[in-house]
Amino acid sequence: MTTTDSRVLRAELLSFDADPGENDTPAAGSLRYFEDGALWIEDGRIRAVDDYARLAPELPEGIEVIDHRGKLITPGFIDSHVHYVQLEIMASYGRQLLDWLNDYTFPEECRFAERAHAEALSDAFLDELLRVGTTTAQVFCSSHPVSVDAFFTASQRRGLCMLAGKVLMDRHAPEALTDDTRGGIRDSERLIGDWHGKDRLGYSVTPRFAPTSTREQLDAAGGLLRNDASLWLQTHLAENTGELDWVAELFPGSRDYLDVYEQSGLVGPRSTFAHGIHLDQEMRGRLAGRGANLAFCPSSNLFLGSGLFDRLAAREAGLNVSYASDVGGGTDLSGLATLKTAYQVGQLRGQPLTAWQGFYGLTLGNARALSLDERIGRLAPGMDADFVVLDPHATPLLARRSARCRDLGETLFALMMLGDDRTVAEAWAGGVCQHRRDG
Ligand code: GUN
Ligand code: ZN
Repeated sequence: MTTTDSRVLRAELLSFDADPGENDTPAAGSLRYFEDGALWIEDGRIRAVDDYARLAPELPEGIEVIDHRGKLITPGFIDSHVHYVQLEIMASYGRQLLDWLNDYTFPEECRFAERAHAEALSDAFLDELLRVGTTTAQVFCSSHPVSVDAFFTASQRRGLCMLAGKVLMDRHAPEALTDDTRGGIRDSERLIGDWHGKDRLGYSVTPRFAPTSTREQLDAAGGLLRNDASLWLQTHLAENTGELDWVAELFPGSRDYLDVYEQSGLVGPRSTFAHGIHLDQEMRGRLAGRGANLAFCPSSNLFLGSGLFDRLAAREAGLNVSYASDVGGGTDLSGLATLKTAYQVGQLRGQPLTAWQGFYGLTLGNARALSLDERIGRLAPGMDADFVVLDPHATPLLARRSARCRDLGETLFALMMLGDDRTVAEAWAGGVCQHRRDG
């Protein structure tokens, strides 16, 4: 006899079906909202989503109903670009990108040669992600294959949907982090064989950025993608002006930074380029033409003094924008904090971010940008049961603010500006409650 694992959560429910647009009111048909909703989950998937009163008569007798009235359920948050190996160097003072990499990041990543350390930090990182409601992320490991094995093992054990990859670097980094060009690719091939497509895991080919790879290594990374169109690609692009000058010096045969990646076949619909601050409209158009996405990492861009991302220029070019923490350059793992900072960056550019656009971005928008929207990003029948239970009354201040909100848009905006890990009452992934806030 087979048994099913089935339960219902009763709460406010919000899920996007389409981009809500940039207006103060969301585009017609872009979202579904149930004030007193029922989310029926079964065997790791969503079975039904509806008004509680409408679904109640269909529910099997005795099914567990978890009463979360007063709380808001949305799809689990997605972080399109984050480095798990940098968790412990978050908030390292006062450098711009290239010095920050040399002074803090590379020495820290050397520690991930040790399996025990990689295992401990993988678990610590996943605990922290779930605490802030992030159920899926695209993750940089270190150059050590063991750092990837540890991360995927920990993610698989919890039943999470995660993308990750081994950093490729064959120059301009400490010896302990530097690949032999062919060896780094062979290591990637072994990791792809072991992990890509296993359970809810996917492999992202991960050249760190142009300055730390030879043309030969970038070409070989492109070869991996050509061999298997289901692989992802993650790297950095045009984050910092010093970096731009260095790339121009290292790749005189490329007409601009993006061209370095284009020449090696790294730009496609499953490619995520972190930052993309210093691009012109023609380059944005080239990225859009290939269906790639830029990961907007606002807290990192402010922390490292990299610049103010031009979100609307990307949008105008038809370029997908995803939202990311970029920890350890970022100062907060929380998706809500990422939205807050994205809003603030937008204010300085005269392009404020609506709460509709923000919550769409963290959920379905990021799922689409990462080509994961067939499985995650929406509350809909058949989708994986990955969602967060948000508490708009989590702190005395938030409760006061929420009491003054007149509609859902105002509540979402207050959550995005004032929310943090305390706002996440529960995080579920694969139909399992993975985190429950104490108290
Ligand atoms: N560019 C190359 N490596 C990194 C990194 O680790 N973090 C950030 N923010 N930018 C990078
Ligand atoms: Zn990064």
